[in-house]
Amino acid sequence: MADKPVLLLSRRLPDPVETRAARDWTAHRNADDRALPGDELVARAAETGADALLVTPTDKLTAAVIAALPARVRAVATFSVGYDHIDVAAARARGLIVTNTPDVLTEATADIALLCLLGAARRAWEAESLLRAGGWTGWTPTQLLGIHPGGKRLGILGMGRIGMAVARRAAAFGMRLHYHKRTRLDAAEEAALGLTYHATAEDLLGVSDFLSVHMPGSPENRHFLNADRLALLPEGAVVVNTARGTVVDDAALVAALKSGRVAAAGLDVFDGEPAVNPGYMALPNAFLLPHLGSATLETRCAMGFRALDNLDAVFRGEPAPDRVA
Ligand code: DGY
Repeated sequence: MADKPVLLLSRRLPDPVETRAARDWTAHRNADDRALPGDELVARAAETGADALLVTPTDKLTAAVIAALPARVRAVATFSVGYDHIDVAAARARGLIVTNTPDVLTEATADIALLCLLGAARRAWEAESLLRAGGWTGWTPTQLLGIHPGGKRLGILGMGRIGMAVARRAAAFGMRLHYHKRTRLDAAEEAALGLTYHATAEDLLGVSDFLSVHMPGSPENRHFLNADRLALLPEGAVVVNTARGTVVDDAALVAALKSGRVAAAGLDVFDGEPAVNPGYMALPNAFLLPHLGSATLETRCAMGFRALDNLDAVFRGEPAPDRVA
């Protein structure tokens, strides 16, 4: 029987995923789960004789890292739907196959978007902090009053799979749904959820009492939600971001939260994470999570299996189902 191909895992993965990787591959784990700088990833790929890498968003596969990978590395599967941490053009130029994990994390990420929306609107962090600090002296008619989402307009900026899943959830809260996407959905899809289309992001911002960001991270989208665009939101809007931190200009959002022009923000992702703009830390109206969108055991297992399905296909000589390069 031919030797199993060699797979390098850049981080610890859920046990069922590592077990399957060890069954089907000569798998090298990252037992201490430390995020590997690019040069270390390259060195480990060389030491282990890796044929393929299973990486995560904490691995920055820049053009230089891709160029330095040993020639024997044929494929990289990222354990994520987003692939802004991979220079896809450099991968294509080198003939490196790159795959991602769409679909399987849609529902979990939409759940976290709603958690951010409600956590921000209903002042969950302030309330829990007060309670844990022993500062709750009893129910009062006026304490910690939040914003009611029902009947409000939710603007969904970027209407892909996750945006649609957010729309379905928000519909159940009685929100009025608006969206912007480069390519308009068909009439049946819009009608099914009662979605109103806006041809430009700027139009959408103007009607968004709540805004949920679902644009991919990319150099073009960097700081898309800047001071000028934030100023288009209705006074007292709530901003939610579960997509990529790079899409938001943190300094501008911090200033808008400080002034109260934006009433609250629910953020699961940050520009430069795990660093978080210190401005947010001091703000009671920022509800902050450490990039938990896909963080359920079921979802993370499904992501790992999907990544392995892709690599298995490549090494069987078949097209990878989720090839992005
Ligand atoms: C992704 O998949 O892109 C998330 O950010 C991590 O689950």
